[in-house]
Amino acid sequence: MHPRTMREILARAPVMPILTLHDARLAGDLALALAQGGITVFEVVMRTPQSLAALRAMLEATPEADIGMGTLMSPHDLQTALQAGAKFGVSPGLTSELASEIAATQFPFLPGVATASEVMQARGWGLKALKYFPAQGALGAHWIKDMSGVFPDVLFCPTGGIRPPDIPTYLQLPNCCTVGGSWVVPQDMLADRDWAGITALARQASAFARV
Ligand code: 3PG
Repeated sequence: MHPRTMREILARAPVMPILTLHDARLAGDLALALAQGGITVFEVVMRTPQSLAALRAMLEATPEADIGMGTLMSPHDLQTALQAGAKFGVSPGLTSELASEIAATQFPFLPGVATASEVMQARGWGLKALKYFPAQGALGAHWIKDMSGVFPDVLFCPTGGIRPPDIPTYLQLPNCCTVGGSWVVPQDMLADRDWAGITALARQASAFARV
């Protein structure tokens, strides 16, 4: 049994950093820098050879944080994330193979959608906390607002191209409680081990208020 549902995890964070780690040796210090700035939920994408080692190092450094694994494309990816101890999973979309594995494991999961039909399919699998991707490249907050009438039971976490000035527009929507983004950890600051700078950005991210 997983301690928190996807909704409960999202409720802990107005902004969820999306992290790409090429060097797992930086992961523990990065997790501590984020936690210092008040970030308790973040996603490590499974897109580099070091992703899993990075996830494990972060879970060890900040056991109280909800650290998820992103870009899960297949049941095998999901099992890998579960075995590594990820607290939740994220995918850019949803396939029936993935959905059936999520249903079997009850793993807190945030699948990506971009159309009303995809929302209907996800709901059909019992998934009602959904990632809206890509957000800024598509209709952005307008789309989430339009979905509230037809899907009042669905909560959206938009990602893709969202920067700090865009965030208040999303968080004022009752069906959007968390916004995802990579801006909290710029790659150059990570390479420079600028932990104070990253903590300052994390503080800015965690201070965004829901209306
Ligand atoms: C992702 O999954 O990589 C996100 O959508 C990140 O988008 P961003 O880099 O534009 O914040």
